[in-house]
Amino acid sequence: MKICVLPGDGIGPEIMAEAVRVLRALDLKAEMEEGLLGGCAVDATGTPYPEATQKLAREADAVLLGAVGGPKWDGLPREQRPERGLLGIRKDLNLFANLRPAILYPELANASSLKPEVVAGLDILIVRELTGDIYFGQPRGIETREVDGTQQRVGWNTMIYAEYEIRRILKVAFEAAQKRGKKLCSVDKMNVLECTQLWRDIAEEVAKDYPDVELSHMLVDNAAMQLVRAPKQFDVMVTGNMFGDILSDEASMLTGSIGMLPSASLDANNKGLYEPSHGSAPDIAGKGVANPLATILSAAMMLRYTFNQEEAALRIENAVKKVLAQGLRTGDIHEPGTKKVGTREMGDAVIAAL
Ligand code: NAI
Ligand code: MG
Repeated sequence: MKICVLPGDGIGPEIMAEAVRVLRALDLKAEMEEGLLGGCAVDATGTPYPEATQKLAREADAVLLGAVGGPKWDGLPREQRPERGLLGIRKDLNLFANLRPAILYPELANASSLKPEVVAGLDILIVRELTGDIYFGQPRGIETREVDGTQQRVGWNTMIYAEYEIRRILKVAFEAAQKRGKKLCSVDKMNVLECTQLWRDIAEEVAKDYPDVELSHMLVDNAAMQLVRAPKQFDVMVTGNMFGDILSDEASMLTGSIGMLPSASLDANNKGLYEPSHGSAPDIAGKGVANPLATILSAAMMLRYTFNQEEAALRIENAVKKVLAQGLRTGDIHEPGTKKVGTREMGDAVIAAL
């Protein structure tokens, strides 16, 4: 197991240290090598995704990333900004499938904006396509032209999906569903968008290869409603880039705690980049108070999706549940009756629970 570790900026190094300690505690014979990405790479080399990091990332089976960015680099030209490093590595590794779980641990049921009875025990996975759709479709632009007899500015983007792009993301989603509750809901807007009729047709075709997974379809507007009405009806949801952008943010907020949410981005061979959903939290960087659980849970996803080590992944996830049940909380989700701990203590507790 070759893992490229990129702590990044802000709280990145603090939360990554805990994830690495958890992985080492599992005794997996993993080879971990550290590299620079983001602002720290800009400071050291002048570029956010330096060649040494490219080499490390390409040669590894998986990349574990903290977070990048911060006010220190906000004044730089666009190509030198830390975020460019993130876009660069995602593109370089051909990561087209974004997996975003939304899990509400029973102990955190009050952190959600929804009633506990609606969300307690929520455990869904949103699979979002990352490289196509209206975000990248050509032609695009804003131009002035004649419309109904007057000159007007016209803005346009084009929704395009090729068959192979739809097929490969659906494959990832079906395989993820096989590892979970064996229910897949494909979200589209086939009643008005022809592009997504193709999506629905291909979903039906791919489904034939996964007879053990139950496939359903839902229109995106209804899916947005259902996520807040009865989110527990879902197991895995799969959708295109734009709908997935919106629905995955909606779903993650049902859990109410940004410090708890891992994510994965995969290529066609299950090589992946794993990172917490949150950013570099400059406001609390260096204070030892950041919640390391999203990064620790990202490491669990890495074991599951890249290395097929389901048992090790579950060991981490169960350890996190145990620590929450013990009442330990970092500042981001501290409530009356729980014990406030720092980043390092939270890591210690997870390792003890393993
Ligand atoms: P953010 O997610 O870094 O922070 C939002 C709020 O949540 C802050 O109050 C922060 O303290 C808190 N928070 C985030 N993660 C936490 C954790 N693990 N434990 C406790 N509290 C936590 O988002 P923001 O403030 O919009 O962005 C800060 C920087 O991060 C920016 O430079 C932005 O570009 C970058 N960023 C990087 C991402 C990445 O590396 N994938 C994603 C999002 C933002
Ligand atoms: Mg978004």
